[in-house]
Amino acid sequence: MATAKNNPNLNYNPDRLVSAAPVEDDSSFELKLRPQRLNEFIGQAKVKENLAVAIEAARSRGEAMDHVLLYGPPGLGKTTLANIIANELGVHFQPTAAPLLQIKGDLTAIITNMQDKQVLFIDEIHRLQPVLEELLYSALEDYKLDIIIGQGPSARTHTLEVKPFTFVGATTRAGLVSAPLRSRFGIVLRLEFYTPEDLRVIVERSAEILGVEVDDAGAIEIASRSRGTPRIANRLLRRVRDYAQVRGAGKIDLPTAQAALQMLEVDKYGFDEVDRRLLRDAIGVRLFWHYAESKAKFVVLERVLERSFGEGYEANTATHRDY
Ligand SMILES: Nc1ncnc2c1ncn2[C@@H]1O[C@H](COP(=O)(O)OP(=O)(O)O)[C@@H](O)[C@H]1O
Ligand SMILES: [Mg+2]
Repeated sequence: MATAKNNPNLNYNPDRLVSAAPVEDDSSFELKLRPQRLNEFIGQAKVKENLAVAIEAARSRGEAMDHVLLYGPPGLGKTTLANIIANELGVHFQPTAAPLLQIKGDLTAIITNMQDKQVLFIDEIHRLQPVLEELLYSALEDYKLDIIIGQGPSARTHTLEVKPFTFVGATTRAGLVSAPLRSRFGIVLRLEFYTPEDLRVIVERSAEILGVEVDDAGAIEIASRSRGTPRIANRLLRRVRDYAQVRGAGKIDLPTAQAALQMLEVDKYGFDEVDRRLLRDAIGVRLFWHYAESKAKFVVLERVLERSFGEGYEANTATHRDY
C-alpha cells in the first residue's frame, strides 16, 4: 500500500507546509542539512559572536563552557546550535527533551552518567517538572547532585559529584522559564527571524547538499516566502525541487519556483490558505466591531436627538440607518 508520504501526487499536503514546527518527514532531511560547525551556521551574527568567544575561552582554559539558554520561535536553529557547541568544543553531545523526563530517576540517570565536559541539551526546557528543575540546580551550580536513598526515618541524603558539563537549554517560551532556572545560565541568547538574504544563502547551501541546481532568483523566491524561518525554507526547497524534477527541467529558476509555490498555495508573504482564512476572519471581526460600535454610537445619538426633538426626528435620520 502506498503510504501518504510516498504519494507522488504533488498536491498532497500532509501538514501545513509553512508550519515552523517540525513535521514528521522533516527529521531525516533536517539531519542532512543541519550545519555542523559555527562557520556553516548562517546569519544570527550576534549569537554566533557570543558563542565563538565563549567556546574559545572554555577551550583555552580547558574547562566546561558556561551553561547556555537559547530561546526564540521554532525552526530558527536552537537544536542546531546546541549541536554545534558540542562539535566546536570537541565534546560528547547528549540531547533530550523536558517532556521525556518524567521522574527524578530519569534525570539522575542522565546526570550521573555524563562524560567529562560534555554538552547536555534539554529541549523545551520550560516544560521541565518543578522537582526535576530543583534537582538540576545544584548540578548546574556546583556539579553536585543530592539524591535521597531510602524512605521515611531511615532516608539519607547522598551528595554525588558530577563531572563538569555544559548545560544547553532551549525554549520557544522564555517567559515560562522560572527565574531560578534562568539565573543559572551564564549565557542567554535570543534567536531572531532571518532576513531574506540570509535565507537565500541557506536555500543555496541546502540545494547544494541536495544536489539540485538553483539560481539566484529561484533561491530568493523561496527565501522570501519562508517566514524568516530556515526550517520552512528547507521544506519549501524540498517541495519545489520535486516540482522542478517532475514538471520542469530539474533546475530551480524563478518561473519554476513561482509555479511550484503557486501550486503549493504559498503566497508571496509565505501565507497559506489557513493564514488567509484567519486574516480574513480577523479583518471581518474588526469590521464588524467597527460597524457595531458606530451603530451603537449612532443609536445613542439618535435617542438623545429624539429626546430633544421628539419622535418626528426619527424620520430624518432614517437614511443614515445603514451606516
Ligand atoms: N543558521 C542556519 N543556517 C543553516 N541552516 C539552518 C540554520 N538554522 C536552522 N537551520 C536549518 O533549519 C532546521 C531547523 O533548525 P533547528 O535547529 O531544528 O530549529 P529549532 O531547534 O530552533 O526548532 C535545521 O535542520 C537546519 O537545517
Ligand atoms: Mg529544536
